[in-house]
Amino acid sequence: MTQVISVVQEKGGAGKSTLLIAIASLMVADGAKVAVIDTDPQHTLSDWAKKESTDVDWAVEEDDERLIPTLRALKKSEPAYDAIFVDTAGFKSAMAVYAINASGLVLIPSKATETDAKGAIKTFRHVTSVADSMDKDIPAYVVMMDVDPATNITAATLESLDDLKIPRLKAMCAHRTGFKEMMSTGRGPEGSAKRSAQTVLAEMQMGGLIDFYGGKDGKA
Ligand SMILES: Nc1ncnc2c1ncn2[C@@H]1O[C@H](COP(=O)(O)OP(=O)(O)O)[C@@H](O)[C@H]1O
Ligand SMILES: [Mg+2]
Repeated sequence: MTQVISVVQEKGGAGKSTLLIAIASLMVADGAKVAVIDTDPQHTLSDWAKKESTDVDWAVEEDDERLIPTLRALKKSEPAYDAIFVDTAGFKSAMAVYAINASGLVLIPSKATETDAKGAIKTFRHVTSVADSMDKDIPAYVVMMDVDPATNITAATLESLDDLKIPRLKAMCAHRTGFKEMMSTGRGPEGSAKRSAQTVLAEMQMGGLIDFYGGKDGKA
């Protein structure tokens, strides 16, 4: 079964496209068949994918009412995709509701700032309410991005999330130039950025969040 994974956060610049590109690329390197869909008019994801340096299939879909048909068509591909990632714009949108609704996992990136944390909290509640309205259980996790772990602002941001019991991964994508370089290389993260992203992927693997690695519906 193809797993749809959306990256959603109503605050812009929180690291949605960066997280998606890093995780999708690492999965491709692990042998997964992956497609990515860019629904954000800013086109960060498709600008990266256009470089075709990574073996990932990609599509642009800016019409919210076409997202579900586009996903349905991609899910019929042979051989099947292991994962389809959906990138969304940094504001609340009908597109994000469709993306959340179609997803088996939602990732909510947040940098270590108060505005990002507030956006992450609102986004988590939004995901919960969309899932609830559809009578679905859609796991959603905050993933910290661009982090300097030893700083007070990071500690304060984590505390604000943990106080409200917002689910988050313990692993984080550290502040690394390698994440920025992905945009010019068209590849996945390298060097210390890669190692940092791998800790995030490993936690998702161990938590059974990603079907490709033998999640709850996985084949492994
Ligand atoms: N871990 C990181 N290390 C360094 N820069 C990062 C990291 N995560 C995100 N960024 C930078 O933050 C900016 C916004 O990230 P982006 O993924 O485009 O956010 P969004 O898609 O949510 O708008 C980009 O310049 C990106 O390179
Ligand atoms: Mg983006």
